[in-house]
Amino acid sequence: MSARPMPIQETEPSAAKRFIAAARQLYADEPDTDKRWQKMGPLLSELLADAGVKAQSGKWPSCDQGGLTEGGPQAQNLLLYEDPDHGFVINGLVKAPGTRTNIHDHAHNWTLYGVLDGHETIERYERLDDGSKPDYAEVRKSENAQVGPGKIDLVRPWQIHAEESGEERTVAIIVRAEKPGGFLQGRYDPETSKYWQGYGPTQIPFEFE
Ligand SMILES: [Fe+2]
Repeated sequence: MSARPMPIQETEPSAAKRFIAAARQLYADEPDTDKRWQKMGPLLSELLADAGVKAQSGKWPSCDQGGLTEGGPQAQNLLLYEDPDHGFVINGLVKAPGTRTNIHDHAHNWTLYGVLDGHETIERYERLDDGSKPDYAEVRKSENAQVGPGKIDLVRPWQIHAEESGEERTVAIIVRAEKPGGFLQGRYDPETSKYWQGYGPTQIPFEFE
């Protein structure tokens, strides 16, 4: 009697793999950058809603936030994925309780920031001066939003913002058009109106299943 062939086990692709495939398809289908990043929102929503993603993020290490003043150390992000064709990246960001980012922009880079776990405050700032004075920027807080899991924030190029974790450990998944860390981004101090530039977060490769 011959043995029956074993059925082929088809495993569902993980939420991470599904997101990557959908994001790549979006790059192929949507040439308009603004529209593409708006359409990326629902894809990230699905990723944030996945129980397996949340479970694995429990093991992700905290990321340093870098210096709040000029010349301070670079912040850190976990580098979960970098697309070989389109260049977009998926970053993980774990903020320990009581962590505050500096007030900054992302230069030309498009960013979709999604809260996976914990609650935090997202601040937006508007610029009041015309940018003609070197090392000087007047900024004023224009938004102060308390956010929790599932919240998605589209950060357009040059938008000025900060985040604060409050009393909880918070985890974010961030999709960026380009890997940060290798180009200068703006930094702002509303108290002194000082403006300076620093490099974005150092990228720490980390497995994403
Ligand atoms: Fe940011």
